[in-house]
Amino acid sequence: MSRIAYVNGRYVAHADAQIHIEDRGYQFSDGVYEVAAIFHGRIIDEDGHLERMKRSLRELQMDMPMPEEPFRLVCRETLRRNRVADGIIYIQVSRGVSPRDHPFPKDVKSALVMTAKAVAWPENTDDDKGAEVATVEDIRWLRRDVKSISLLPNILAKQAARDSGAYEAWFVDGDGFVTEGSSTNAWIVDELGRIVTRQLDNHILGGITRATVLKLARENSIEIVERAFTVEEALAAPEAFLTSTTSFIKGIIGIDDKQVADGAPGPVTRRLRAIYLDYCRGTGSNLA
Ligand code: PDD
Repeated sequence: MSRIAYVNGRYVAHADAQIHIEDRGYQFSDGVYEVAAIFHGRIIDEDGHLERMKRSLRELQMDMPMPEEPFRLVCRETLRRNRVADGIIYIQVSRGVSPRDHPFPKDVKSALVMTAKAVAWPENTDDDKGAEVATVEDIRWLRRDVKSISLLPNILAKQAARDSGAYEAWFVDGDGFVTEGSSTNAWIVDELGRIVTRQLDNHILGGITRATVLKLARENSIEIVERAFTVEEALAAPEAFLTSTTSFIKGIIGIDDKQVADGAPGPVTRRLRAIYLDYCRGTGSNLA
């Protein structure tokens, strides 16, 4: 079956989908994006993704490309036309097409693109064998809370990690503290079994999975600490893990080729993953 993309008001064959060469997303990375998971026909944390997109747009002084209700309909129609019941939807909004010039153009309509892709999600807690991370210096701008399409440092970091045989990169700030992964949020479990993740501010993206994991942890009496931690602390921690829309919850079993704990996803990570999968299945007690 051929894929369909939504591009500025039209559903077109994915292979033929085009954006103008003077789209500001293409020329300046002047835009924002979202990735949401579809699990057994449900858009996981749809409201959270929509709210974050609206916030990212606001921070860049851009408008929603259309009102919320038709926007949600276009998401569903894109999923329907691609027959995606398990997978992802990718949404990108750029400031639109205008002759190249740095200041914002006046009276230009923002450009909206959506694509959907099927993904066979690993559904069992045991599917996660854990992943290695490689640390890199965090050279990004200081508005990482905005989910902008400007991802050059992120892709360089991810590639460096992959080149070294790791799954993910961990960005480390000038003081030795982990900020987040190149496309994931970073966590450890401390000696008291509390889950630790960096506090929300401009230094990290407020992950939607992060927010849901915090909510589910509270509901399951798992204690939470929101603070920064160092690489050394993570290496000495009983467990480390990462979260994102597409990785869900994944144990971290090595950092820069040094083993974390006993080299397998730990009990708290596994428990959270099971709780999160139940939540995605809609069988958890707390459906969004
Ligand atoms: N990445 N931090 C960064 C820098 C990210 O790009 C992402 C998401 C996250 C996790 O956020 P969430 O839980 O909302 O997915 C944290 C997406 C999946 C991507 O770029 O493909």
